[in-house]
Amino acid sequence: MSVRRLAEVQPDSFAFSKANAVVAKNWIGKYPKGRQQSAVIPLLMIAQEQEGWVTRPAIEQVSKMLDMPLIRVLEVATFYTQFQLKPVGTRAHVQVCGTTPCMLRGAEALMDVCREKIHPEQFHTNADGTLSWEEVECAGACVNAPMIMIFKDTYEDLTPERLAEIIDAFEAGKGASVKTGTQLKDRYTSEPEGERTTLLDEAALSKSGGAKAKSGAAKNGAAKEPAIPPSKASKPKTHAAETDASVKSPSPKKATGKQEDATSVPPLPLNKKRANETLDDAGAPGRQRKGKPGGPAPKSAYKSPELLKGEPIGADAKKTRAAAKAPLAEAKPTLDSPNRPVGIKKPAKPDDLKLISGVGPKFETILNGLGIYKFEQVASWQKRQREWVDGYLNFSGRIERDDWVKQAKALAKGGEAEYIRVFGKKPR
Ligand code: FES
Repeated sequence: MSVRRLAEVQPDSFAFSKANAVVAKNWIGKYPKGRQQSAVIPLLMIAQEQEGWVTRPAIEQVSKMLDMPLIRVLEVATFYTQFQLKPVGTRAHVQVCGTTPCMLRGAEALMDVCREKIHPEQFHTNADGTLSWEEVECAGACVNAPMIMIFKDTYEDLTPERLAEIIDAFEAGKGASVKTGTQLKDRYTSEPEGERTTLLDEAALSKSGGAKAKSGAAKNGAAKEPAIPPSKASKPKTHAAETDASVKSPSPKKATGKQEDATSVPPLPLNKKRANETLDDAGAPGRQRKGKPGGPAPKSAYKSPELLKGEPIGADAKKTRAAAKAPLAEAKPTLDSPNRPVGIKKPAKPDDLKLISGVGPKFETILNGLGIYKFEQVASWQKRQREWVDGYLNFSGRIERDDWVKQAKALAKGGEAEYIRVFGKKPR
């Protein structure tokens, strides 16, 4: 399953159309007061139907309308594969189920058809922007595997050839004419392929209730299914109190205070020395399997190999191992080091260093304090200067990993547009 993230490039704003705003309000009104957040899925779906996909501004708008933390709406939108997080094919977005039952029945061959007919990679539209595809987890039609979903409809019992025909139909704008559900001619919903092979003798089924059912059907003048008594096959035969229907719960009899005291476990005593003892060690009533009530915790006869050798165990051993492994702490780079990047006076228009991924407001302030204000400065850093700043910020190599120099070079050269060109996404 792929990671589902919001699209890098997003529109600036979102608003429900007049008609959709009414529908959305209607949905919110369906839930009791204080439970309006339950409308999050319908609202996101309406937004998707309006825009073709779920945009970040739409998610923000839904969060405002439902007075719901943004992260909660994001969680819903990014969890369900029914929500498209970037633009998809305008005529069809084919979701191929790749979970075990579908995979065993040929889902991989279906994905090959999508690769060939739409795009070699998921989430990319074809040249005309009309088709796209993705692999999804079980869509709940496993009995008719392998299957696909296009928007709200499923197409089941597929072969690669049939899928190719379906894709062609959608591409030609004739998606509505394709039969939904099973694609087999002799199957209705999900009964056995071919014909029934079990429960063929209806007379045997209707032995007990059949006579009554038949007479009832005759009276009504209609052929009805034979009445079958409810089965008790799955009900356990047990006399355990938990399943005994004659035992009423909660009991109508109330326990006396004395009875409650006798059966309750008192809280641990507030004794610092014994703060780490368990209930068993503390000798609580009814839990006295070890030692005497109130007495010290019984000592185990078992000695670990470490203890026998006189080595530390548990948390002490961890600390000792960590101390042995830890390299000697490096001294923080000094401000008078020759490796420190040269600073400048604050310019009239400093750059927004926060556009560099890895620089937040706190680091920007520190960098400004060092006289670093411009992208050009960061872009010119040599290795020794990068190491100095990395050590000064206590960054453990993040400047290299985030490639500040490449980011700064792009931003210095052509701002956001150049950054998008180089990295394929917006700067933060
Ligand atoms: S495994 Fe494909 S629909 Fe369930």
